[in-house]
Amino acid sequence: MTNSISADWWRQAAVYQIYPRSFSDANGDGIGDLGGIIAKVPYLTDLGVDAVWLSPFYPSALADGGYDVDDYRDVDPRIGTLAEFDDMVAALHGAGIKVVVDIVPNHSSDRHEWFRAALAAPKGSPERARYIFRDGKGEHGELPPTRWQSMFGGSAWERVTEPDGTPGQWYLHLFAKEQPDFNWDNNEVHEDFLATLRFWADRGVDGFRVDVAHGLKKNLDPAFDALRDILLSRDMFHDGEHPLWDRDDVHDVYRAWREVFDEYDPPRTAVAEAWVAAHRRGRYASREGLGQAFNFDLLESAFDAARFREVIAHNLDDADATGASSTWVLSNHDVVRHATRYGLVEDRTPAAGKQWLLDGGDPAAVDAEQGLRRARAATLLMLALPGSAYLYQGEELGLPEVGQIPDADRQDPAFFRNPGVDIGRDGCRVPLPWSREGSSFGFGADGAHLPQPAWFGEYSVEAEQSDPASTLSLYRDALALRRELQTEESLEWMPAAPDILHFARPGGWEVVANFGAEPAPLPAGDILIASGPVAGDLPGETTVWLRAPGR
Ligand code: GLC
Ligand code: CA
Repeated sequence: MTNSISADWWRQAAVYQIYPRSFSDANGDGIGDLGGIIAKVPYLTDLGVDAVWLSPFYPSALADGGYDVDDYRDVDPRIGTLAEFDDMVAALHGAGIKVVVDIVPNHSSDRHEWFRAALAAPKGSPERARYIFRDGKGEHGELPPTRWQSMFGGSAWERVTEPDGTPGQWYLHLFAKEQPDFNWDNNEVHEDFLATLRFWADRGVDGFRVDVAHGLKKNLDPAFDALRDILLSRDMFHDGEHPLWDRDDVHDVYRAWREVFDEYDPPRTAVAEAWVAAHRRGRYASREGLGQAFNFDLLESAFDAARFREVIAHNLDDADATGASSTWVLSNHDVVRHATRYGLVEDRTPAAGKQWLLDGGDPAAVDAEQGLRRARAATLLMLALPGSAYLYQGEELGLPEVGQIPDADRQDPAFFRNPGVDIGRDGCRVPLPWSREGSSFGFGADGAHLPQPAWFGEYSVEAEQSDPASTLSLYRDALALRRELQTEESLEWMPAAPDILHFARPGGWEVVANFGAEPAPLPAGDILIASGPVAGDLPGETTVWLRAPGR
């Protein structure tokens, strides 16, 4: 039943997200780097992941943690070189681990050579046509072209100073002002991204994670100004008629990308980050398009059996309908870590996590023990689902969110642009603890670019690696078993009490998750793995994998 490595490797892969600046710092300058990733290949091998996805490592001023890209075909000198990138790919491939890189097509950084050229060129020039420049409103063009708000707060338009020193046109930025949106109706933009995809695919990259895949195409008819309030809300239109998000013609772009992916053997893969209405996700995941799309439904759910069941059933149906495999995510670099979310005393959702940070990120408002118990149960359930599982660095340590970071140390633009409304995402991006003690807990020789709390050492790799009860051991054991047991086939729900999810997978593999607080009877079978101690009954907030009797 072991998976063979094939063109379909991604369909059931366990993919580990590396946030390069915060993973491991080999040269000791406080910033994680490619050398650090190479040094940790044995760790990734022991962990048992099938692929890594690297968040951006491109040259960047880090206005948005690297999602503001200066040059799509190079490595940030603080993170490494192209030669080191090649070494990293060779090391990971040597260990049987695939490499997925992040592609950021909706916007570049304001330091990209094309944007600099656009600023230096006059209104109406071909240089400006690669971005979205418009004249302002008002007598002297002093008002933004529309009242649209950026995702990080404040106007989505920034006024430029023309080369002759006069106040000039405005450019659109749906994210930070350092992230000007490309004009995807411009053929040069289109061609340049095809060149970027080939550049990395030629270097052996196996797949791409596509940032803000539902952006790109826009309809800038100023009449939409009237719709200001719904424009940037995440309640998507359901018909492809939203002026900025999820427009039907964005799929023309991905059809062209698919042709590039299919030039390679095996074909390169992609996964869309597309925050769209559930029934429109399949368009991104289609065989003619990117092939797979994230669903963030589990990540957005509270720890609740009925909700988990609904999400799982719905997404498996969707996967059947589109022919893609499903994706599962509990944590990433944009949300409060799930070990903390599930320990919040009030609500357990990302929105509640955000509110908790805003209220000061007080550890006393979190039941850390319960959070971790639930996180382990949810992860063990997720790893038993058909489809690919995306894991975020540090979750294998049960790492909590860092709730308290001095304002002076914060880096996220969401914090700076939204005073008092958003505290930003730095708390899940704090450099990993590798050792119990020592400089930056083994992250690097000379401190970490975001401050680590004193308790970080307890969650270090060193503290957990030889403890069979640790979260790291749970992930390793579960991933090893998953390699043996995982198949393409869907699951079969078994009758269970309201707080329990019980399903069977092919080959006599059964999974039981108790979301309730009280112990429940354990179905017959040999326990293969459990997310917490089991004696007799199945304790509350615990998941087990069983071998069904007689199998
Ligand atoms: C995606 C990324 C996020 C980034 C944004 C803008 O949502 O996951 O980190 O800030 O795109 O590029
Ligand atoms: Ca470094």
